[in-house]
Amino acid sequence: MAAASHASSASGRQGRGISGCGEAVTASSSTGDDERVLRTWLTERFDLQVPVVSAPMAGVSGGALAGAVSAAGGLGLVGWVGPDVDKLKLELVTAAQPGRAFGIGFLAWTMRPGDEQLVDAALEAGASLVCISYGDYEPYVERITSAGAVAATQVGTLDDVRRATDAGVNLLVVRGGEGGGHGRDAVATLPLLQAVLDETDLPVVAAGGIATARGLAAVLAAGAAGGWVGTAFLATHESAYKDGHKDAVVAAGLDASLHSTVFDIGRGSPWPPEFGGRALRNAYSDTWHGREAELRAAPVPTDEPIVWAGQVAGLVKEKRPASEVVAELADAERLLAEVCTRTTGG
Ligand SMILES: Cc1cc2nc3c(=O)[nH]c(=O)nc-3n(C[C@H](O)[C@H](O)[C@H](O)COP(=O)(O)O)c2cc1C
Repeated sequence: MAAASHASSASGRQGRGISGCGEAVTASSSTGDDERVLRTWLTERFDLQVPVVSAPMAGVSGGALAGAVSAAGGLGLVGWVGPDVDKLKLELVTAAQPGRAFGIGFLAWTMRPGDEQLVDAALEAGASLVCISYGDYEPYVERITSAGAVAATQVGTLDDVRRATDAGVNLLVVRGGEGGGHGRDAVATLPLLQAVLDETDLPVVAAGGIATARGLAAVLAAGAAGGWVGTAFLATHESAYKDGHKDAVVAAGLDASLHSTVFDIGRGSPWPPEFGGRALRNAYSDTWHGREAELRAAPVPTDEPIVWAGQVAGLVKEKRPASEVVAELADAERLLAEVCTRTTGG
């Protein structure tokens, strides 16, 4: 009981976590219908039924996946890389089609002068969250917030948090090393989340390792406003991942992935080395991981497929519609209600 009341008072103080035990499970949707929701900063800001963001994943989360997640009650994000603004606009139209909030994520290190037009295109199409990560995102923050959208970035250390706060970011995406795709591997999600929630009053969503209602319930109980979920959407019907990649994710176990820079060295990708990437291990990574200096000195190219995915690939059991993933995550509400019942004896 002590733990539960501490959690709710901590989240209340910071105005970003879930409501207290009773309210959390009985609050009705802000649209006035009967659907019960977990209310957090995220659900209130974007009028969501489920406190879940589908992570931006360039080449995987186009408008189809983002739109499907938004239609299902979460916040769908398009993942984007590259200068083609016309192509981007097509994806944005698809993402906006359900008439619900949606957003977009860019990779800062790939952005060049003139790429402001990509951000503007997203804002004009109605994106209500713009996340720019990994590199110099600062020049875009004012543009996003002055358009009335939420500016977010993915952080992997407390130094990243301080930098994002100084830049005026509205939402911190606290991403641990178990997450799929690129990011830091310095700290795992749960230790980082605890430290960041003590460090900041900004709203926080947790990323890396969340694939089921249990994971979502855990980060909500800790004080996060929601989960930022990538790997769990990789094998959905709406994901643009190759079919063979989806099969590999479904077949993967919890220990099948590896965070490394060798994937990028092997394919000649100029990702900044502080952001390694987590992918399913393959013959190339088995050979070269741990021998990065040698490999950088004399690169050995590979065209072996790279299946970017996080540790929770081991929790992805089938290919299915994105709406089913969102619905499964929504069960966090019941799990938290059970905790409340246990701790209050109600
Ligand atoms: C295939 C794949 C591609 C990704 N591409 C991007 C991207 O383009 N931009 C970005 O900010 N994050 C990208 N990410 C990272 C996600 O935004 C997020 O941090 C991560 O998926 C969360 O961890 P999880 O995979 O355990 O859910 C990608 C992740 C994956 C798995």
